[in-house]
Amino acid sequence: MGSTRPSPELQEKSLLFAAATMAGVLLSLLTPATSAVAYDHKAIIVNGQRRILFSGSIHYPRSSPEMWADLIEKAKDGGLDVIQTYVFWNGHEPSPGQYYFEDRYDLVRFIKLVQQAGLYVNLRIGPYICAEWNFGGFPVWLKYVPGIKFRTDNEPFKAAMKNFTVKIVSMMKSEGLFEWQGGPIILCQVENEFGPLEWDQGEPAKAYAAWAAQMATGLDTGVPWIMCKEDDAPDPIINTWNGFYGDYFSPNQPYKPTMFTEAWTGWFTGFGGPVPHRPVEDLAFSIAKFIQKGGSFANYYMYHGGTNFGRTAGGPFIATSYDYDAPIDEFGLLRQPKWGHLKDLHRAIKLSETALISGDPIVKSLGNSQESHVFRSNSGDCAAFLANYDTQFYGKVTFNGLHYDLPPWSISILPDCKTTIFNTAKVGAQTSLMKMNPVGNFSWLSYSDDINFDDDKSFTFVGLLEQLNVTRDSTDYLWYRTNVDIAENESFLKSGAYPILTVMSAGHSLNVFINGQLAGSAYAGLQDPRLTYSGSVKLWAGNNIISILSASVGLPNVGEHFESWNIGVLGPVTLNGLNEGRRDLTSQTWTYQIGLKGEALNLHTLSGSSSVEWGELLPKQPLTWYKAFFNAPEGNDPLAIDMISMGKGQLWINGQSIGRYWPGYIATGDCSPCDYRGEFNETKCQSNCGAPSQRWYHVPRSWLNPTGNLMVLFEEWAGDPTGISMATRNVGSICAHVSEWQPSMISWRTKDYKNPKVHLSCEQGKRMTTIKFASFGNPQGACGYYSVGNCHANKSYDVFVKKCLGQQLCSVAVISEVFGGDPCPGVLKASAVEAICE
Ligand SMILES: *[C@@H]1O[C@H](CO)[C@@H](O)[C@H](O)[C@H]1NC(C)=O
Ligand SMILES: *[C@@H]1O[C@H](CO)[C@@H](O)[C@H](O)[C@H]1NC(C)=O
Ligand SMILES: *[C@@H]1O[C@H](CO)[C@@H](O)[C@H](O)[C@H]1NC(C)=O
Ligand SMILES: *[C@@H]1O[C@H](CO)[C@@H](O)[C@H](O)[C@H]1NC(C)=O
Ligand SMILES: *[C@@H]1O[C@H](CO)[C@@H](O)[C@H](O)[C@H]1NC(C)=O
Ligand SMILES: *[C@@H]1O[C@H](CO)[C@@H](O)[C@H](O)[C@H]1NC(C)=O
Repeated sequence: MGSTRPSPELQEKSLLFAAATMAGVLLSLLTPATSAVAYDHKAIIVNGQRRILFSGSIHYPRSSPEMWADLIEKAKDGGLDVIQTYVFWNGHEPSPGQYYFEDRYDLVRFIKLVQQAGLYVNLRIGPYICAEWNFGGFPVWLKYVPGIKFRTDNEPFKAAMKNFTVKIVSMMKSEGLFEWQGGPIILCQVENEFGPLEWDQGEPAKAYAAWAAQMATGLDTGVPWIMCKEDDAPDPIINTWNGFYGDYFSPNQPYKPTMFTEAWTGWFTGFGGPVPHRPVEDLAFSIAKFIQKGGSFANYYMYHGGTNFGRTAGGPFIATSYDYDAPIDEFGLLRQPKWGHLKDLHRAIKLSETALISGDPIVKSLGNSQESHVFRSNSGDCAAFLANYDTQFYGKVTFNGLHYDLPPWSISILPDCKTTIFNTAKVGAQTSLMKMNPVGNFSWLSYSDDINFDDDKSFTFVGLLEQLNVTRDSTDYLWYRTNVDIAENESFLKSGAYPILTVMSAGHSLNVFINGQLAGSAYAGLQDPRLTYSGSVKLWAGNNIISILSASVGLPNVGEHFESWNIGVLGPVTLNGLNEGRRDLTSQTWTYQIGLKGEALNLHTLSGSSSVEWGELLPKQPLTWYKAFFNAPEGNDPLAIDMISMGKGQLWINGQSIGRYWPGYIATGDCSPCDYRGEFNETKCQSNCGAPSQRWYHVPRSWLNPTGNLMVLFEEWAGDPTGISMATRNVGSICAHVSEWQPSMISWRTKDYKNPKVHLSCEQGKRMTTIKFASFGNPQGACGYYSVGNCHANKSYDVFVKKCLGQQLCSVAVISEVFGGDPCPGVLKASAVEAICE
């Protein structure tokens, strides 16, 4: 695979840019002379300019191509400069040498859309990506290359990794997508979070990391390479940070910029776990803390998390929703106030950019837990960050002779070193309450999967086989079947004290059938993929058939040599309570069948589903397929299927897999009330305890036809399909709650400091039709349940009706004059409003 060299003309152009930078001499040592993207101690340098860059992760296979342009536009509106994505090797090379770059895997199309929006790309090739993605992004066939060991100094692995990396880099070059070619790619990543493994594994890991670095830089991309969480990334590769906070991090050389490649906006949901949230006050605090320390690149992981369609979820037990509590929700709608507050943060920081890129901050203590960070440029710009790390109390500080009152656990931004235009804990952006609206039910037909095997598709083996080795992940399912002879004189046949069957499995879930009847199910959890089924079984005299359907729920994506972890029934499998005591079935003859009969028949497709007789609804049967036809709901609102009444299985619409559903897995964990103050971690602000981890499953609009859509699902347990419904998702109410003293960017620009405003905005094409609540005074409560306090201007409602009703956007100043006079002099007042957009 040949690599294209930049043209002489481009080389000359970029040399000029390099010479124009202050650190030009040093730069030309660190990055190829052909580079128009370079870096120095302070920042990434694009076109000769040091830049403070905000970036957001959007993974192209986690949404439909029809959604991409809108997601990218929303990212741009939110103040991002860069879109970051991994490259998904197992999606692109499903079998060795057979590449796929279509549909959701159309990487070039995705990058070109980012380019059209005027944003840059940070391409994380990996090709190990973790990402809660099946097998961490590795194709399963890779595991079966003779002699291979992943992510270490191993020749077969290095050859395959290089092959794929070269493939992607060549593709990007031939499409002209690197910055020096006029494209959007300004950064590439090789490997991913390798530091912790290197720490554990020592020498071969070190050699591999050095090889990976050299291999990558040898590809001459003309843009800097990064390695995240890799402290000894060799020059010229920049080591970067991933975490909830990034301010403790410094790169391994003084001439590298401080970069935060993954600032976690939330966390993933696992089946059985609660749904994690990260308050935007804390996320904004984390980013401001990173920038005030001197950081110049921050990427939100995720900015849009999206959906693990098909069987792409990693795991085990990663849910289908990869919402991540990101600023754009799974369905592509703005999550407010998260999106808006971060947008305000980005604007405040960009207003300070000239000072920020000029050098390191001067840090001074302003109190026990308060600090100032001041940046100055040669031309006299001054920007300050005033931080209060106290988790309980306001910090009253004096800075440059002026007094400031800093909320707990917050940072104020002063782009002129005087005026607070933003505070991380004071959210001025509007809140949106999202709504799921049921729009229709389905009328179902059913088809029972067959637990008898086809002779030509099954095979026997003495002993138990590891599941992945047998299925190669072509399906989640593997049948294990064996026979048990019960003598007429077994005493349990008289006593009724049936023997206990115990099945030990390496993961992840199973159903046990005795003579064709479901005996029970068992499944593991996020903490440990292994499970044990144990239950009494009604055997009869003579020959009995024990059939076990083992199911995988996403291959592991992280952990020491995760590629070697087993799944399936590895035993022991025993029967206890026979005359002989215990009988071990582990080493006897087992018959295997890969996948379900319905899978072999392609029942999820239109043609496959027509190949069998479907019957009337048989509710509450295990191993049953259901199908229904439906018309697309009107409008453009995003869609979901409410699976609340179902157990566990998979779902398809028009042949496309929506993913694994598992509302039967009830979330357990700590859902205590959430306070943004204090150190965040992924278990701090969770919801859904005692409810299904995931109830709604996103259906991309573009997958539907106006009429006659086919929905098929396979239910492993015994759910009731009559309870399934389709729902649209939209914004129920929008709210804002803004105080007289809300720092305000607009007021800073107009030098009209004391005039914060309430801003309300409906989505494109919608207008405010109802003002549900309005109060200027001291309103109480939160969006959806505001109430009037003991101070309230009687004109509040009329003012909002007049300014906002019938409008898509409106703003109302938070000052007494607007509301016909001060309703309670001497009291700090605020405006709260709730409106409905339709
Ligand atoms: C690398 O790619 C080439 C061309 O597709 C193929 O022939 C070769 O087998 C690949 N090698 C490895 C180790 O994957
Ligand atoms: C769907 O069916 C359920 C029960 O069968 C019913 O309660 C619900 O109202 C129906 N929903 C719609 C939107 O028709
Ligand atoms: C995989 O299965 C094959 C037989 O199909 C067997 O020879 C081999 O030992 C198995 N490998 C592992 C790791 O289980
Ligand atoms: C039970 O029957 C089996 C043959 O079916 C025989 O071998 C065994 O001795 C019998 N056991 C008893 C306790 O009668
Ligand atoms: C996460 O945060 C919660 C709440 O602050 C705390 O109780 C818990 O110990 C923290 N967990 C870890 C692993 O730090
Ligand atoms: C506001 O309305 C209340 C109740 O209608 C009334 O008692 C009060 O006098 C009014 N206040 C003003 C300032 O008009």
